[in-house]
Amino acid sequence: MSVSVTPLTQRPAWQALEDHYQKVKDIHLRTLFAQDPKRGERFTCEAEDLYLDYSKNRVTDETMRLLLQLAETAGLRERIDAMFRGDKINITEKRAVLHIALRAPKDQSIVVDGENVVPAVHAVLDKMTDFSNRVRSGAWKGYTGKRIRNIVNIGIGGSDLGPYMAYDALKYYSDRDLTLRFVSNIDGNEFVECTRDLDPAETLFIVSSKTFTTLETLTNAHSARKWCVDALGSEQAVAKHFVAVSTNATEVAKFGIDTANMFEFWDWVGGRYSYDSAIGLSLMIAIGSEKFREMLAGFHAMDEHFRTAPFERNLPVILALLGIWYNNFFGAETVAILPYDYYLGRFTSYLQQLDMESDGKSVDLEGRRVNYQTGPIIWGQPGTNGQHAFYQLIHQGTKLIPCDFIGFVHALNPLGRHHDLLMANLFAQTEALAFGKTAEEVAADGVASFQVPHRTFEGNHPTNTILSSHLTPETLGKLIALYEHKVFVQGTIWNINSFDQWGVELGKVLANRIIPELENGSEPELTHDSSTNSLIRRYRRMKKA
Ligand code: F6P
Repeated sequence: MSVSVTPLTQRPAWQALEDHYQKVKDIHLRTLFAQDPKRGERFTCEAEDLYLDYSKNRVTDETMRLLLQLAETAGLRERIDAMFRGDKINITEKRAVLHIALRAPKDQSIVVDGENVVPAVHAVLDKMTDFSNRVRSGAWKGYTGKRIRNIVNIGIGGSDLGPYMAYDALKYYSDRDLTLRFVSNIDGNEFVECTRDLDPAETLFIVSSKTFTTLETLTNAHSARKWCVDALGSEQAVAKHFVAVSTNATEVAKFGIDTANMFEFWDWVGGRYSYDSAIGLSLMIAIGSEKFREMLAGFHAMDEHFRTAPFERNLPVILALLGIWYNNFFGAETVAILPYDYYLGRFTSYLQQLDMESDGKSVDLEGRRVNYQTGPIIWGQPGTNGQHAFYQLIHQGTKLIPCDFIGFVHALNPLGRHHDLLMANLFAQTEALAFGKTAEEVAADGVASFQVPHRTFEGNHPTNTILSSHLTPETLGKLIALYEHKVFVQGTIWNINSFDQWGVELGKVLANRIIPELENGSEPELTHDSSTNSLIRRYRRMKKA
């Protein structure tokens, strides 16, 4: 594509934004709102029961026009079409990028290497449905004949964060007679704490790993197997207490799990885009297949919105462009994601992998070092807890931190005044961040003059507010797809590959080299740098002491 030949910062659309930035960078949101009484209604976009208010951003109509022009000239439309068509847009791994096929309706056709992949997706969904029904009904029994009451998902990264986040998010809809646990860390403390109160005879392990070679997952899976076999007294127990989710049948069989109990997915599903594949099996067991399919319908609705809506009314595109505005022109380094819902406690951790593993790249599609910023640091936690922790810095610190606030109109558990108080806080924060409080206003309150500078709020801190009616499986699917596509749009404009993750490899290789140096009693000679050598020597010495 010719668009990707000219380096991003040399393109006219980019340069127009740089010029425009110089003109508007100091305009205050107070001024923008004063100039346009309808701003809070105009700078909004609604689709699929998600209402986005982006009026409290430091943008004008001209900013949005130029950002949209940037998207157009970056070839975004062609890239979206290429992704949905199943083109191998993950060029470094020569793979299609088709998480959208995981939620495609049965009658859709998406062809990869000459084969329509949609029937295979639905066949796995049906197999998951059958299995989860059997576990939920008690028809699937453990080795001793007891029904399964505990599900432990063993996986890491995309094979953990998605189902864990979604299980928390949708706990309200889950079968409360089932206990779900998620073991990811190679730190044995996690495995021990997660299993200490579980009866092995009632526990099912789902070993989730796309590659089925990941050190953490395989180590935990072997410990689980020993824990199970030791307690139940037979290797044959494995068949009743272990199932796998993977693309790698050979390794699954090698581990000793019957491939009949393997739930398949495909190399065109990236790890961080996989929780709506069979990686979501634990979630399906928890909430049931109907709710799981409602969630998929939510994903699909957002996919269709993203694929078809004009960019100026396209939620993922708007969010992505605003992010680029702050990341690349204002020099903001981070984005805070602030869900005002207890159930979204793990939402930000999930988005960290989605965004930072996707767009944490410094080389463009042509292999050139980029001379502009790419993916931001994603952080945050649910409100209102954050208000009593780090919001001070957002309000009065020296850094510009664009924030996404996410809230729901209806509480899942209405309890007295709680929900109105929660949402009042959300609205208040976006108002305070945008408009602040001037020194004059502070002084007019009778504040002692020595305190005035300390109690002044500059404001002009940008926020998006995403409002929906309820947190349902469908809404969750829409929200996740919204952020998936936002990340893709940004990666497209930055001209990077959002779908590989070579940056995680070096650490894995070095850890594998160090493992025998720690475990081997003969203490092989060390050939690392002096810091790593002396840390290893110290560890060995103290371990023996
Ligand atoms: O850490 C990198 C990574 O490959 C992630 O992208 C992935 O989600 C995770 O490891 C787990 O990989 P797997 O599912 O193959 O065990």
